[in-house]
Amino acid sequence: MTDQNKKRGFFGKILDLPNDDPKKTIIVAFLLCLVCSVLVSASAVMFKPLQKANKATDIRKNILAVTGLLNEEADVNKLFEQFEIKLVDLSTGDYSDIDPASFDRRKAAGDPNQSIALSGEQDIANISRRANLAKIYLLKVDGEISQVVLPIHGYGLWSTLYGFVSLEADFNTIGGLQFYSHAETPGLGGEVDNPKWRKQWQGKKAFNDSGELKIEVIRGHVSFQTTDAEHKIDGLSGATLTSRGVSNLVNFWLGDNGFGPYLKKMSAEAEK
Ligand SMILES: Cc1cc2nc3c(=O)[nH]c(=O)nc-3n(C[C@H](O)[C@H](O)[C@H](O)COP(=O)(O)O)c2cc1C
Repeated sequence: MTDQNKKRGFFGKILDLPNDDPKKTIIVAFLLCLVCSVLVSASAVMFKPLQKANKATDIRKNILAVTGLLNEEADVNKLFEQFEIKLVDLSTGDYSDIDPASFDRRKAAGDPNQSIALSGEQDIANISRRANLAKIYLLKVDGEISQVVLPIHGYGLWSTLYGFVSLEADFNTIGGLQFYSHAETPGLGGEVDNPKWRKQWQGKKAFNDSGELKIEVIRGHVSFQTTDAEHKIDGLSGATLTSRGVSNLVNFWLGDNGFGPYLKKMSAEAEK
């Protein structure tokens, strides 16, 4: 080995090889992959807190939207301060003492110690397991509850839809429904995001006078001739399966295995 070759070092020697040398091609490709993977990993780590903050803001925006409070000009986080967040024990309907900030629903639903497995008959939303606790968002005006926002999720045709339903102070009249995550087909099941369709939910009654859960997305349109129209929503045309999924998931979360026990307690209290 000449003195000059020694001085060039490993990289110098590789660069000196002709461009069509297989050794040079493999080493350059390997180094390129290494540099790119370091860049991608570093940016993933660096942007994680930002992504988390954006996700939290998006959830807040959706909660504001479902209660009709979203105002594009106002500060989302400031508007969101109007909400009181609580954790509800779904089996009893009581509030839990656990700090809601420490609760992660998706994690809890996957942990057998913090969730229950649903039987086929119970699992109308197709979610397999349900966390024991759930976060709720109380909108208060002059100290009185004016709306409650409940997180809901369940399977449509292609995907699990995640969203919120809000109820007014009677814990029966629907204030709004909004999904923030799903993968249904745009123009078909994706019409769950259509503001015109979502608007239909406003003012509908979840329960009848006997306290039975009656809310339903029907096949076709609701007209003045439809019986119990106050409990019914138009089906999405060409998307019967997504419509059925939405109907089922709303029924699950407002029912006995979801927020039913909490809603019964709260509506009895509201009637006092
Ligand atoms: C590419 C493709 C995407 C579809 N996406 C949906 C969907 O997101 N939601 C849905 O309910 N049906 C979807 N469908 C239609 C269903 O397969 C099924 O035909 C439909 O739900 C029946 O509803 P209808 O009786 O209202 O036509 C899709 C069909 C095709 C071919």
